[in-house]
Amino acid sequence: DASQAQLADIDVSKLEVIHRKDKKPQPASAGLKFGHTFSDHMLTIPWSVESGWGTPQIRPYGPLELEPSATVLHYAQTIFEGMKAYKDEQGRVTLFRPDMNMRRMNTSAARIALPTFDGNALLELIKKLVHLDKEWIPTLPGYSMYIRPTMIATQKAIGVGPPNEALLFVILCPVGPYYAGGFKPVSLYGTTDYVRAAPGGTGAFKLGVNYAPGILPQKLVGEKGYAQNLWLHGPEHYLTEVGTMNLFVVFEQDNGDWELVTPPLDGMILPGVTRDSVLTLAREHSQGKKLDGLDRKITVTERSVKMSEVKEAAEKNKLIELFGSGTAAIISPVDRIGYMGEDVHIPTGPDGMGPVSGPVLRELVGRQTGTIPSDWSVV
Ligand code: COI
Repeated sequence: DASQAQLADIDVSKLEVIHRKDKKPQPASAGLKFGHTFSDHMLTIPWSVESGWGTPQIRPYGPLELEPSATVLHYAQTIFEGMKAYKDEQGRVTLFRPDMNMRRMNTSAARIALPTFDGNALLELIKKLVHLDKEWIPTLPGYSMYIRPTMIATQKAIGVGPPNEALLFVILCPVGPYYAGGFKPVSLYGTTDYVRAAPGGTGAFKLGVNYAPGILPQKLVGEKGYAQNLWLHGPEHYLTEVGTMNLFVVFEQDNGDWELVTPPLDGMILPGVTRDSVLTLAREHSQGKKLDGLDRKITVTERSVKMSEVKEAAEKNKLIELFGSGTAAIISPVDRIGYMGEDVHIPTGPDGMGPVSGPVLRELVGRQTGTIPSDWSVV
């Protein structure tokens, strides 16, 4: 509308850069724990309802100053993204499908009445930040720099409503494999007494508020000896997501072909970038652009799957594999699901990966790190 149109959008040309004087000591890549180490600089962009997006700043990584009344601290008006930067053997730095994150972040912002922005402008600024801190990008296989764009409502008032002030910031973490054990399969517990998402809820958006309620259930299944929650929806026990990841199942069909299934984007499922990439690679395979190491014909479906179907397939040896997908862990194979008092066992290969997830992972990592050229990788 007209009042919106007059507000300033993010303006890359206004960027101010304040360099850190003393560089932080950089820890050895091998000891990195996911999300515990941050690079030298961060990006901040303030927003106000009167003037729109203000001056972008790249400045030393450090504490933010917020008033205790800041609405984010009370009503959880916070959204985030997860992206990764890679450095190849020629020293080129690349991002993986960053346009998807920019689009999703705008969708998330709109859902909780935070301001939207020009995704191309934010991406330009992220590239400048990553470039400045590029010596922080680890190059060991399985390592990368995780990028965390975040937006919070900073209005200094505890009324509930769209904020008159917000802050967008981006921080960078050099990371290794998400799970300390690498691609070691994880166990899940079929969770029915807590929900991650519900119809009409916010599960399809990357909001901070979707994650806090999952922490206690994860702790509880940990006490039972399982790694993550398998979020089952409704009396039918539909599979939705795994921990903080999307989910895929491979069934053998009666004609011997395999079916790769993931739940549809029905409002309860996060539209994951890795989810979309797995679907695209599998569809290319089924259309003849074969994945290396996968000889089977597969059909690719987005449909609902009940836990009873998974259990029955496992009993009939028709369950080929089950895995999670996300930016942080990429692919996470699953070897068992605790469900109604017993364990459903899921086959996994000798290296942990399954017959579909293995070839998909190799192609994905190749495209991410640039060993396999693709337009998903942006220099
Ligand atoms: C993922 O990349 O799978 C995520 O959901 C990010 C996680 C660290 C919360």
